[in-house]
Amino acid sequence: MIKVLFVCLGNICRSPLAEGVFKKMTSEAGLSDKILCDSAGTAGYHTGELPDRRTIKIARQHGIELDHLARKLKPQDLTEFDYILAMDKSNMEDILKLKSKTTETRAEIFLFRFFDDDQQNGDVPDPYYGNMEDFELVYKISLRCSEAFLRYLKERHHLQHYGYRTFDKS
Ligand code: 4NP
Repeated sequence: MIKVLFVCLGNICRSPLAEGVFKKMTSEAGLSDKILCDSAGTAGYHTGELPDRRTIKIARQHGIELDHLARKLKPQDLTEFDYILAMDKSNMEDILKLKSKTTETRAEIFLFRFFDDDQQNGDVPDPYYGNMEDFELVYKISLRCSEAFLRYLKERHHLQHYGYRTFDKS
C-alpha cells in the first residue's frame, strides 16, 4: 500500500479538498486498494471538526463528498506515510521541523505544487479569509496537481491502470 498524506495549516480547507480530489481520482483509476490517502494540519485549531462549509460546498459541486475530521500532524505520520504533500512553504517548514525531531522517518516530502505545470510561487493559496472563488481555485490547483502526482506514482511504482472512466473535469 502506498500511503499519501496531504498537509495544510488548519486541515479544514486545502488539505481535505486535495485529499478528496485525489481519492476520487485514485478510485476512478481502480487504484483504491493500492493507494491510501489522508490529510492533517500543522496546527490543531480545528481538531475533530468537519471541513469548512465552503470546502464541503466546492467539493460537492464537483461530485465529491467530504467526511474527513480535522486532525493535527503527528510524528508517527512521518514514519507511517510514504509521501507527504505540503500545501505551502510555511507548512513545509513546519513539517521539516517535526521531521528534524523525529527518528526513523520514511516520508518523502514535496510541495504539492511541485507537480503543477503552472507552479506560480509554489503555494496553494490559503482560501480561509477569502471567498468561493478562492476555494474554486484550490479545487482547480488540486485537480492539476493530483493528475500529475498520480501519473508520477504510476510510473514510479509500476501501477497498472484498471479504471475505465476518465476523471470528470466539470
Ligand atoms: P487550511 O486553511 O490550512 O487550508 O485548512 C486554514 C484554516 C483555518 C485557519 C487558517 C487556515 N485558522 O487560522 O483557523
